[in-house]
Amino acid sequence: MKIIVCKDYAEMSKKATEMVAALVKSKPDCTLGLATGSTPEGLYAGLVEKYESGEISFAKVNTVNLDEYYPIDPKNDQSYRYFMNQKLFDHIDINKNNTHVPNGLAKDVEKECAEYDELVKKLGVDIQILGIGRNGHIGFNEPDTYLVPGTHVTDLTQNTIEANSRFFASADEVPKKALTMGIGSILSAKQIIMLVSGANKKEAVAKLLTGNLYTDCPATMINLHDDVTLIVTEDAYR
Ligand code: F6R
Repeated sequence: MKIIVCKDYAEMSKKATEMVAALVKSKPDCTLGLATGSTPEGLYAGLVEKYESGEISFAKVNTVNLDEYYPIDPKNDQSYRYFMNQKLFDHIDINKNNTHVPNGLAKDVEKECAEYDELVKKLGVDIQILGIGRNGHIGFNEPDTYLVPGTHVTDLTQNTIEANSRFFASADEVPKKALTMGIGSILSAKQIIMLVSGANKKEAVAKLLTGNLYTDCPATMINLHDDVTLIVTEDAYR
């Protein structure tokens, strides 16, 4: 694992922006695996800036997002589809038909998950952006005694519901389930960039850095991948 320790959130975001922009320049029809949450917001702002300055175009880029609440209407301002439109897609020249987020309104979830895995496989993710939960989750793969390889529906832990309640009127309004890519879908990316910022992620990062695999810290599964870059702020590192 390549580790880049940054002094702060701005530096972390800049490093990630440079890496993603370099891919978009060298492979204009690349597929980006994207995450939501607070951590990648600076990266998305950086990419919008590079688009606005004419440095990069997203006209041929495809995207697949890691996860979505379930059930949720994509028009709901707490949905991950809404987040992606607002933070990135609405500000760049991407074809929205080429942007993919699991469907929070899918009637047949099994079918939705199987089709999402097919899509991820067909597109082939060039760079997967990951954040990490305080409890070590990636996507919505929560700590458990076992982990699921493919896209699936999952129950959110109380810890995650509480962490995400900051975006909702109250914890009661946070959906209790989500659709998420599985560990296998995530590891199928050619390259993984994990972004981590903030002292409250320190414990999860320390577990990741042991190099071991813990199902109670799903992020450690990226130790199985041979092209991971961890871009981490000083306060989250050791
Ligand atoms: C969201 C996702 C989650 C977040 C994690 C950290 O798409 O994949 O695993 O990366 O919950 O969230 P923040 O960045 O808000 O601390």
